[in-house]
Amino acid sequence: MSPKFQILFVTFLHVHLIRGSDPDPIQDFCIPSREESATTIQCKNSSLVTVEDFVFSGIKFPGKFSQTGLSATSVNANIFPGLNTLGMSFVRADFQVNGINVPHLHPRATEVAFVVEGRVYSGFVDTQNKVFARVLDKGEVMVFPRGLVHFQMNVGDKPATILGSFNSQNPGLMRIPSAIFGSGIRDDLLEKAFGLSSEDMAKLKRRFAPPT
Ligand SMILES: *[C@@H]1O[C@H](CO)[C@@H](O)[C@H](O)[C@H]1NC(C)=O
Repeated sequence: MSPKFQILFVTFLHVHLIRGSDPDPIQDFCIPSREESATTIQCKNSSLVTVEDFVFSGIKFPGKFSQTGLSATSVNANIFPGLNTLGMSFVRADFQVNGINVPHLHPRATEVAFVVEGRVYSGFVDTQNKVFARVLDKGEVMVFPRGLVHFQMNVGDKPATILGSFNSQNPGLMRIPSAIFGSGIRDDLLEKAFGLSSEDMAKLKRRFAPPT
């Protein structure tokens, strides 16, 4: 490789690496083929693609509510193959009265969250530990920058619904409580980090243990 070409190559690599979103598609769409042979995903022959490949009907209604009063259905490319290669995905979140979405983050996407129904206290924390939060009314939208911890709580007197959109087909989700207390990090480390007694620790571990 000539030095000039090397510089070009390194520059290209750098530009490629610092781009924050999914790769650009190289065809109109790529519905993954069912017969996944090797490790690479093959696109379905477009003569076999129908409108149904581009429609998702799984978020007409809320799903099951969690202990914290939240029902969230993440619709990424694994669940809705029509999104594959398109660099976006979404989530429907429903909140019971006082329901919360625990502090969490998406490592690969910025999110915009539109309040479809209700009043929702929403916010995020930046890397200076500054919190940006307020109550959003129906019709308002908030953006949660990529990778930053964010949270929501229904502060209205009826159920609330949010539609979130992500600029990645697979944004990823880390819920802070379960990432810390439900992942199997050593107890003595967490007790020291959070100033907890071993009884506190046992309680938190029970609460956030992964479902078996
Ligand atoms: C897709 O299907 C059509 C019709 O069956 C066929 O003519 C074409 O060769 C196929 N394309 C590929 C890339 O397999």
